[in-house]
Amino acid sequence: MLACVIKGPTFEKAKEQIEKALKYADALEFRWDYFEEIAIDKIKALIKDIDVAVIFTLRKKSQGGAFDQEEEKRLSIIEDLLQTEPDYIDLEFDVPTRFLESVRDNYPKVQIIISYHNFTETPQDLEALFKEIQKPILVHYKIATTAQSSIDLLRMMHFIKKKQKEVLITGITMGECGEPMRVLGKVLGNAFDYASCEKEDTQLHQVDLKTLHNIYHYLHLNKDTRMYALLGDPVDKSKGHIFHNDYFQRHKMNAVYVKLKVTKEELPSFFKELTDLAFDGFSVTMPLKETVMKELDHVDSDAGRIGAVNTLVRREDIWFGFNTDAPAALDAAEEKGSVRGKKVVILGAGGAARAIAYEALKRGASVFILNRTEEKAKLLAESLGCQGYGMDKMSQVAKEGYDVLINTTSVGMDSDELPLEKEYILPNTVVMDAIYNPMNTPLLIYSKDIAKDLVFGFEMFERQAVLQQTLWDQRP
Ligand code: ATR
Repeated sequence: MLACVIKGPTFEKAKEQIEKALKYADALEFRWDYFEEIAIDKIKALIKDIDVAVIFTLRKKSQGGAFDQEEEKRLSIIEDLLQTEPDYIDLEFDVPTRFLESVRDNYPKVQIIISYHNFTETPQDLEALFKEIQKPILVHYKIATTAQSSIDLLRMMHFIKKKQKEVLITGITMGECGEPMRVLGKVLGNAFDYASCEKEDTQLHQVDLKTLHNIYHYLHLNKDTRMYALLGDPVDKSKGHIFHNDYFQRHKMNAVYVKLKVTKEELPSFFKELTDLAFDGFSVTMPLKETVMKELDHVDSDAGRIGAVNTLVRREDIWFGFNTDAPAALDAAEEKGSVRGKKVVILGAGGAARAIAYEALKRGASVFILNRTEEKAKLLAESLGCQGYGMDKMSQVAKEGYDVLINTTSVGMDSDELPLEKEYILPNTVVMDAIYNPMNTPLLIYSKDIAKDLVFGFEMFERQAVLQQTLWDQRP
């Protein structure tokens, strides 16, 4: 069930929030601790016509709420709230058992959610934690911990996947690394998922209703949904989740794509934790494209020669690695004409340059790598069998002419700088930028009136993503 959190703080505001929430949510959680007043008559009037499930919560400060008065006072207000007979009442795991029993006996129609919040970590032994908070009466459980890493998130996923077979349970991981649980809860068997009404910037990392529906297609998710993700650090700026979830939706595939922040150091434990979780593939971004290869059972020969993978495919628990960046870049460039026999100038000598140069050579181009640090260009060129120089060579390269110019440096990503002197941008050429955010880079803007054709970074991005989908889709 998807619960939207209603926080007021006024009844007027709450009405607006309810209206928005009812478009998507099948439950409303009223967080009375955020309201300016708790007036029972007003509450009755507010919930009178609501025909989705209603959850009432008066969260105390020590469990992350805003209610800051004595516990006795809080329990007495909860008793008042119960008189309006919400469908569910959320009570912290440490409320006295006799209070729980009185709620059960006096309000048999109200279901109890026992909640536990941990704002610092995800305890190692979640099973032991569950035993600690377990109650002798029938209740729902909500366990919200803080994910310090994606490994904590995977642990919570395992726990929920197993525990939902025994009890009604909801697992939440707070914090940036925990955010995917907000989307995947339904796949793992959460009783509730909690969404915010609007986009919010809090440590909870709740996902708002619109994003859940429009991007992740929450309504279509179920226990058979296959999971995919981007691995990298950072991942917050990536638009991969927009592209891939849209692709799944358009192709009527029961799959979802999230973003997992994973560091190089975490990779071995991360792969160990994956075990029987239904992740069928990953996209890989910085800084893992090289390091992740150690975790794989099989690396495609082109990817091996490039020395980097950006696509992982899991088949019967065997992990395969591919590189779709390289063919995607050249497919995008070759939209404007074959590179066979053409002179291709690549600016930069990092991972992207290596992949693009490798593929351009494979397709019969003659490749010149030019880089700020000459040594790196020379080393890269030598390993691939092409020419490498410092940027000072650009004047001569331009004088002799070239056909395709590809920028793989980050110059222009967040400045209006060009990666080369203006005068070296030549007419009758194809100019391409591997940067896709922003779409219009200084290089492309400046080249617009000079070059014959432009190739935008997003064209390359979309092609590498489509190639990933093709690989994920191939059955063993
Ligand atoms: P990627 O994997 O995206 O290719 P990378 O391996 O970090 O990223 O490589 C970045 C490339 O951009 C390098 O060639 C780098 O030049 P240096 O080898 O001299 O470091 C280049 N680059 C980054 N910032 C640059 C700048 N301000 N001016 C020129 N080149 C730059």
